[in-house]
Amino acid sequence: MKRKILITGASKGIGNAEAQKLSSGNELFLHASKKSSFKNKIKNAHYFGYDLSKIENINPFVNEIKKTTNTLDVLINNVGIMILERFADFKDEDINTLITLNLHSHLLLTKKLIPLLLKSKNPHIIFMSSMSAKNQIEGESVYAATKAGIMQFAHVLRNELAGEIRVSTIHSWGVNTWGDPEGSPILVPENIAEVVEFILDTKRPFVIESIDLSHELQWKGTKAPWSPENN
Ligand SMILES: NC(=O)c1ccc[n+]([C@@H]2O[C@H](COP(=O)([O-])OP(=O)(O)OC[C@H]3O[C@@H](n4cnc5c(N)ncnc54)[C@H](OP(=O)(O)O)[C@@H]3O)[C@@H](O)[C@H]2O)c1
Repeated sequence: MKRKILITGASKGIGNAEAQKLSSGNELFLHASKKSSFKNKIKNAHYFGYDLSKIENINPFVNEIKKTTNTLDVLINNVGIMILERFADFKDEDINTLITLNLHSHLLLTKKLIPLLLKSKNPHIIFMSSMSAKNQIEGESVYAATKAGIMQFAHVLRNELAGEIRVSTIHSWGVNTWGDPEGSPILVPENIAEVVEFILDTKRPFVIESIDLSHELQWKGTKAPWSPENN
């Protein structure tokens, strides 16, 4: 079945793997901070470039989407970054950037696209949260706050939209988007794309509410190898 699928943060990493996985037979609407971020373009996909760490860009983004389509079947809220720092040393602007990009922009975009999704026969919203939402990893305080916010927001939204739009959340441990050697004990973006396809292919009224993912051998502690050191 051909679906209209919007993926935010789709120029690289997990979002790009999802776009590649879903490209066959679907109409894709792909977002990144700028259109030039897309290197190998998918035929017939629509491209959008908006920096969503600036919340004033949400309305122009939504307006451009609405000029391109008046309906959507799937919204994949994937965009996000991680900034690591001991909280006492966090820069104010980094706190703002994380909260705006990883949380605020997802809420506003979702709200403004619900009318387009409601025109679909089988609409679905997927949020890319993280296992950071459920853990206590030093250095990830603000990132974890945004991901826990997404998790809890999605739970309530799922209830509010029950019977209309299915809502699913993915919580993942590390995904190798930074070039660890092949075979490292960490998930790869294609693993997440596979799970997204699985979630979308389930039939109503079954809904995967949320799903936790890891590489079976990955480190899972409190102080990560990348956590900042105590002074
Ligand atoms: N990688 C992991 O270990 C992991 C684990 C759990 C959850 N996640 C979550 O999964 C999602 C994707 O992560 P990833 O590792 O695939 O990230 P990534 O490889 O760094 O890709 C990030 C994507 O987001 C876009 N982006 C970044 N800053 C933006 C901004 N200010 N405005 C608009 N777009 C922006 C990038 O576009 P440009 O190319 O234009 O910058 C790119 O398309 C995030 O929400 C992340 O928190 C990741």
